[in-house]
Amino acid sequence: MQQDKIRLVLTSSLQPGGEINAHINKHGDGVKVVALWVDDARQSYIETTNRGAKSYVEPYVLEDGEGSVVISGIHTYGETVHLFIERKDYSGSFLPGYKPYTPKFKVEPTGLKFIDHMVGNVGWNEMNKWCEFYAKVMGFAQLVSFDDKDISTDFTALMSKVMSNGNGRIKFPINEPAEGKKKSQIEEYIDFYNGAGVQHIALATDNIIETVTKLKDRGVEFLYVPESYYDTVLERVGEIDEELAPLKDLGVLIDRDDEGYLLQIFTKPVLDRPTMFFEIIQRKGAKSFGKGNFKALFEAIEREQEMRGTL
Ligand code: FE2
Repeated sequence: MQQDKIRLVLTSSLQPGGEINAHINKHGDGVKVVALWVDDARQSYIETTNRGAKSYVEPYVLEDGEGSVVISGIHTYGETVHLFIERKDYSGSFLPGYKPYTPKFKVEPTGLKFIDHMVGNVGWNEMNKWCEFYAKVMGFAQLVSFDDKDISTDFTALMSKVMSNGNGRIKFPINEPAEGKKKSQIEEYIDFYNGAGVQHIALATDNIIETVTKLKDRGVEFLYVPESYYDTVLERVGEIDEELAPLKDLGVLIDRDDEGYLLQIFTKPVLDRPTMFFEIIQRKGAKSFGKGNFKALFEAIEREQEMRGTL
């Protein structure tokens, strides 16, 4: 599946048993592979495994008439893996073995551009371990941090740090549960996913009102945001280019940092298990992740948790 620079590979199994069924049985649907575009997949493999990464797959070459691709891979948190994709000698549409599919049924794009960030949920007291992994093994640096007081509500809490590569294109926030009065939504995720995994994929758009309107028209369900959120939001974030009314109608959240503001909205978990969900984000200068909205988001998530009876 592709829209602009976003590529999602959906995998299912053809026969009972096997690796994919075992994965789905344990985790439900989820993100197994986070693939990263590299200049040299052999070098990425040697470098990361030398620095302590556990090998997932040694470098191998895929070829067809359009050229060749080198792929290697390492394990990260839970049963999630990173593949390193070297495609400088390839001109095909995706990877060797794939061909463009042009059905009669046409789906119009919704304005989604690229993956802005992907968030990992890890177990109790494991955030720093995995941040160190991204620092030592991948050469990433920490972007911002906030403690659990910043992003806890009366009922749930978490801690979060953001790791990013040199040019800032790859951003991986890492969450761990923190103690609250009730069960942390991170702990709930880990219980239902049976381990650490990707919590959400944030997709960027240049026009969140248009994109979210189209997504809603097609049946995508987003987390409910209380109307009262909008009574005070402009006092918190100051002036914005957009009219408030359509943002309120759609339930789009707003946050500001030193460099600008951002608009964001979260889908409900896309599966029956309360695990993975998507975020739609439009950045207007802000480079952060909506810290000011954490409270509003968690309160919204907690209402859903309460409905499921897992709080
Ligand atoms: Fe996010």
